[in-house]
Amino acid sequence: MLYYATLFTSLLTGSVLADKNQHESKLTKPLIQTRQDETDPTQPVGTNPISRFETQYLGQQNPNNSCSHRDLGFTGELQGKWYAVYGDTLWCASGVTDPASDSDGFHGMVRDAVSLMTDDPLVVVDMHLNDDTPVRHQLQFVPFNTAWGEDNTYGFGGTSLFETAGGAGGLFYLVNANDAGLKGAGVAKVELVDGEPTVTQRFGDNGYWWPSGSTPRYGDVAAFRDLRSEYVYAWGGAPTSVTDSIGAQYVYLLRVKAADAYDLDRYEYWWGPDGWKTGQPLTEFGAQRAVAWFIGQGQIVWSEFYECYIFVHLSQYYSLHTLEVKLPSIFDAPSPGGSDVLLRTATSLEGPWTPDVKVYTATPIDGGLTYAGVAHPYLDPSGQTLTISYTNNNHIEVLKVTFSK
Ligand SMILES: *[C@@H]1O[C@H](CO)[C@@H](O)[C@H](O)[C@H]1NC(C)=O
Repeated sequence: MLYYATLFTSLLTGSVLADKNQHESKLTKPLIQTRQDETDPTQPVGTNPISRFETQYLGQQNPNNSCSHRDLGFTGELQGKWYAVYGDTLWCASGVTDPASDSDGFHGMVRDAVSLMTDDPLVVVDMHLNDDTPVRHQLQFVPFNTAWGEDNTYGFGGTSLFETAGGAGGLFYLVNANDAGLKGAGVAKVELVDGEPTVTQRFGDNGYWWPSGSTPRYGDVAAFRDLRSEYVYAWGGAPTSVTDSIGAQYVYLLRVKAADAYDLDRYEYWWGPDGWKTGQPLTEFGAQRAVAWFIGQGQIVWSEFYECYIFVHLSQYYSLHTLEVKLPSIFDAPSPGGSDVLLRTATSLEGPWTPDVKVYTATPIDGGLTYAGVAHPYLDPSGQTLTISYTNNNHIEVLKVTFSK
């Protein structure tokens, strides 16, 4: 079964790349016509305060106690420690300790995993290791449940862990049945068991709360515990029933008081001009109800330095919804495969957001995909620097941006 999973992954990547050119030519014209509507709340407003900065490339991030190729790694805090949640985690060959010297072929994988962050953004400590010798490998973080028809090929795209109450935490995840499509977005309860964040419960009759066909995929774009309020916020892409090229790219928002995150009735949904509605999931889709358009997965931080929120994301990204590569920079005729690391800011999480500022351009490894902006705010509470990571063809690359005014 595991072998099936990796076959699926590589087939997917091939078709993604093949679709890219076709996708661009199809979209260029309608995008430009539609996106110039000045009343659209998903469009940039104002000036981005980030204008003077230096970006340093630090290197690739790896665990010090295991070995695999991986993606995502969104960070979140639980009981004063920070953890990363990864997506597909492809184990290296038996005994290999450096992914750069891994041998070709499939050596096992899990669909998501969790690691502890250290003071060095290039070093993480992998959790939930198996008994492989001489090098142990990670077990899956969000468990599949055969009673819900799930198996070990199912994806559980997760974003940032967040603390709820009483030392417990939560995680938004997206149940992905591969060829059978996306099932829905759910919330897991996460508790520290033997010092490791562990999923102890998944809510909903079928393991999710928001069916993807009718409801935004809350949490699949970003999740953020806002310490300036009692809330956790989750951004998600359009329902899968929205299939037109423009509509499928809107991103919607919900929030809940962190302490109420296990109670579906307490969730509040952003209805755009009608504000927040508690217990009333969004049933209308489009620009007016959305908070962003055409963004990839990313992460939000509050910046003490600029006194605003910063959203970290990339210009090229990988969409779980349409299984295609998205290149917003088609407007500027980018160099092929070029991939910018972008920061946009806001003083309110509902937006509006400023235009993006580019802080770095990644060089895709072997022409692979670059996506998923990750922030490491715990490394500098002053906000004068922000350490950022992103996925580059199943490697995690790390940058440090130093701001000045
Ligand atoms: C990995 O790093 C952590 C944090 O610095 C440290 O406590 C641990 O001993 C390291 N493990 C190994 C195997 O080096």
